[in-house]
Amino acid sequence: MSATGISVRGVEMVFHRKQESQVVLRDVTLDVAAGRLVTLLGPSGCGKSTLLKIVGGLLAPTSGSVTIGGRPAEEAVKARQIGLVFQRPALLPWKSALANVSFLNEIIGGRGAKGAARTTAERMLDLVGLGDAGTKLPEELSGGMAQRVSIARALALDPAILLMDEPFGALDAITRDRMNSSLLDIWSQTDKTIVFVTHSIAEAVFLSDEIHVMEANPGRIVETLTVELPRPRTAATLDDPRFVEYERHLRQGLVGGAIEGVTA
Ligand SMILES: Nc1ncnc2c1ncn2[C@@H]1O[C@H](COP(=O)(O)OP(=O)(O)OP(=O)(O)O)[C@@H](O)[C@H]1O
Ligand SMILES: [Mg+2]
Repeated sequence: MSATGISVRGVEMVFHRKQESQVVLRDVTLDVAAGRLVTLLGPSGCGKSTLLKIVGGLLAPTSGSVTIGGRPAEEAVKARQIGLVFQRPALLPWKSALANVSFLNEIIGGRGAKGAARTTAERMLDLVGLGDAGTKLPEELSGGMAQRVSIARALALDPAILLMDEPFGALDAITRDRMNSSLLDIWSQTDKTIVFVTHSIAEAVFLSDEIHVMEANPGRIVETLTVELPRPRTAATLDDPRFVEYERHLRQGLVGGAIEGVTA
């Protein structure tokens, strides 16, 4: 499947509760070119998850539009062009890692699809570095391994777009660094368009082609930064003076602007 781009135009999201209404997103417009890795960076409560859910067709915006590959987002959802990865892996506890990755394809494919679904699942587990862990149950996996399984599960459906909502937020710093490198590896071997949500400045700079910086009340994009660091990105990238400069710039904008909840 060829890479597919995303266009978000004038998205507003208003939540109503009793007498009150809260504008959670105001006039959000952004483009994600096909095959790129883009992050939404901002403090807690600025609407990152809400925006991701709107892009993924899980929520309808109050106004504005999202198109994917030039067509309405709902069509992309129906065509299973969108894969989702959340902060918690949410694996089925009674199924093995392999079965967790293959079961959706088994259901979609119907009778006779099991063999092909299992083969795809094995390939995806290999891709995320868990080729040997297929028979393990979720309770036998570390947090990082479980999150890899959930990435493999999303990839098994071969979506053009991967939406990732703080997928590594619950992991320790060392595992998180490894997962970031591993994600870039996987991305370079596929042609996915990735929208990645984080409130870690370093994670955003390390991963991204482009960073959309958000602020809260109302949630909106306040800056879009193109990260011109060479790829592949490695441990050496962290010492690149440009990396340090991007980090400083973002920290000044976010934390210096007295916005809490964004970590360096
Ligand atoms: N279904 C909902 N109904 C009402 N309000 C909601 C709903 N979902 C989110 N909100 C509100 O919208 C705002 C943005 O929430 P959202 O989860 O998008 O933030 P976020 O940037 O993802 O934060 P975090 O970094 O903590 O995950 C918050 O004030 C939240 O309370
Ligand atoms: Mg969130």
